[in-house]
This record gives sequence, structure tokens and C-alpha cells, in this order.
Amino acid sequence: MKAIVIREFGGPDVLRWEDVETPTPGPGEVLVRVHAVSVNRTLDLQVRQDGGNYGVTLPLVLGNDPSGVVAAAGPAAEGVKIGDRVAIFGGIGASRRMLGVQCWGGYAEYVKIPAVNCVPLPEGLAFADATVIARHFPLAFGECRLADLKTGDWALVMGAAGGLGSCLVQVAKSLGARTIAGAGTDRRVELAMSLGAEFGVNYRRQDLQREVTRITAGRGADVVFENIADPALWPLAFNSLAPGGRLVTVGAHGGGLVTLDVRRLYQQRLRVISGLGADSREDLERSFQLARAGSFRALVDRVLPLREAAAAHRLVETNEPLGKVILDPTAS
Ligand SMILES: NC(=O)c1ccc[n+]([C@@H]2O[C@H](COP(=O)([O-])OP(=O)(O)OC[C@H]3O[C@@H](n4cnc5c(N)ncnc54)[C@H](OP(=O)(O)O)[C@@H]3O)[C@@H](O)[C@H]2O)c1
Repeated sequence: MKAIVIREFGGPDVLRWEDVETPTPGPGEVLVRVHAVSVNRTLDLQVRQDGGNYGVTLPLVLGNDPSGVVAAAGPAAEGVKIGDRVAIFGGIGASRRMLGVQCWGGYAEYVKIPAVNCVPLPEGLAFADATVIARHFPLAFGECRLADLKTGDWALVMGAAGGLGSCLVQVAKSLGARTIAGAGTDRRVELAMSLGAEFGVNYRRQDLQREVTRITAGRGADVVFENIADPALWPLAFNSLAPGGRLVTVGAHGGGLVTLDVRRLYQQRLRVISGLGADSREDLERSFQLARAGSFRALVDRVLPLREAAAAHRLVETNEPLGKVILDPTAS
């Protein structure tokens, strides 16, 4: 089969279009013909660049969130059958390895996967949408649980037009929160507001703390979803919290080293909460149903053939796409 293989860390040129052996599914495994896999900032760009501190062994085929069609099944592969349209969820095997990071992933025509990691897609849901939903919506639900988000809370979402941010806007709203979309350009603010945010702030142009204070009539945000850790933005997001507020983080692609006003932290009884990964398959199934019903929207900027993976990585690095960039191994 054809796959994009990395044999050394580095820039997009290390993504090479190669012939590799098509995997054979073993006991409990299926072979999935990949139709969509997304380009992620950390799991793909960072891992390609330097391994991202994830314990990567080369050579590696990237691709954490493939969706596609079950093409073959090994013995005792239960729950799905040949021809089923599926997305992939959860860690792989007993050690819960990350697909496309600690084992070969979906930047390939086929991927071998335990049948228990397959989640059937509802009829009519496009593969590109399924991949984006599987990647980000369950984590968005998980972050809302970490934040103890309640109906009527004010929630500020940083990077609100990004992959995770755009899902947080929608999930927080579905849970009854009033959402403020923070983004770095007016276009991205508008995009996040089209997903249901009540207010928007361009934090590169406007005073974020002042705007959040004004919007919430002096209260501040009960919850801030801050998955960037950009040193210039993080203090502004933190200072936008209401007394007793919670800042949740599961990402640090903006740099990761930020200043924390500890006096404000304890005097205003604030909490900074972290967690890693999505853990609920029910969240994914619920997200698929809500997307199918038109309540959730997956943002897809464009779909490119898998062989153009290097160009796709360069594109994501520019931060210009409005939505995810998807690779399709069935397209030429
Ligand atoms: N822990 C987990 O399991 C998990 C899973 C998925 C994602 N994540 C993390 O969540 C974060 C967001 O992921 P994503 O896929 O949503 O990324 P994304 O689609 O690239 O969105 C990130 C957003 O961050 C904003 N940003 C602000 N300052 C930035 C800077 N200095 N450099 C780059 N971007 C900046 C950009 O929006 P503006 O330009 O509008 O500000 C961008 O849209 C990442 O850190 C990722 O690692 C964690």
C-alpha cells in the first residue's frame, strides 16, 4: 500500500510517499481502508518536527484520527464487520498507545486497528466530518466536565475557531453556557460566532480582559478554556476569570511557558485545571448523532490527497486555514 512515512524528524520534506507492506489484521483486529485523516498541530506537526516528547520510534506513519471502511477482519474481531464505515477512538492495546504517534497511524491507504477501537458512523456523515468530530468533540465534552461547566456560566474559549476551540464553543453552548469566542483575527471571531458563541473578542486587537468584563457586566468568565499557552495571551485569559473561576488547559502549542499571578490565584479562589485526552466513547457517539442532526458542525477547510501531506503540513503551519485540513488516501 501507499503511505506517508517519516524516517527522520524535521520539516515537511521528511514526509515521504512510499510503498509499504499492507498490514494483516491479527486476532481481534480489523483493517480499515482510510478515507480521511486530519493534520493536527501537535500530534502531526510537532511529532514530525522532533517527536514531541511522546516516545516516538522511527520509522513512523502519522495520523491519529483516521476514518474509513472496514476492509478485512482478523479472527474474533467483534462489533464491526467488513463494509462498515467507522471512526477510531481511544488508545491502542493494553498500554493505550496513541495511534500515529506510538504506533503506525492513518497517513496510509490502510490502517490495522483493534475492532474495539472502531466506532460506527451514522449514515450520511462524511468521513472528513467524522474524523474532525472524533478528534475534537469528545475532548471538548471532557474539558467541560473538568471545568464543572454549569448552565448559565460564562465561558471564554481561546482559539475559538481552531479545531478544539470550535468544538468547545458548540459543546459549551449545548450544555447551557453563555460563550465568548476569543480569536486572533476578525474572520476567526466571526467564524466562531457563526457556531453559536454569543460574543466575540479579537484578542490580538482588543483588550481581552476589559471586553470580557464589559460583556459579563463586571463579573468575568466562570470558565476559561485556554489550550494555547501563548505567553502574551495566557495572562489576559487568566485575568478574565470571575472570582472562583476555573481555567482549563490541555494544550500548549503557543509556547507553554507563561506567567501566573499567584496572588490573584489565591485571593480570587481561582483554579487552573488540566487533563489529558478524551475518555468517553459515549461522548463521541453523542457527538456523531448531534452532527447528523445538524446541531454540531465540524469545520473543514479543505480535503487534499494523502500524497500532498507535506503541502498540507506547510498550510497548517501558516495558521491560515479556517477549519481542519484533511488528507484523503482515496483521492488522487
Ligand atoms: N490533550 C489532548 O488530548 C489534546 C487533544 C487535541 C488537542 N490538544 C491541544 O489543543 C490545542 C489546540 O489544538 P487544535 O488542534 O485546536 O489547534 P488549532 O486548530 O491549530 O487551533 C489553535 C489556535 O490557537 C490559536 N493561537 C493563538 N496563539 C497562537 C500561537 N502563538 N501559535 C499558534 N496558534 C495560536 C490560533 O488561533 P488564533 O490565531 O485565532 O489565535 C489557532 O487557531 C493544541 O495545543 C493541542 O495540542 C490537546
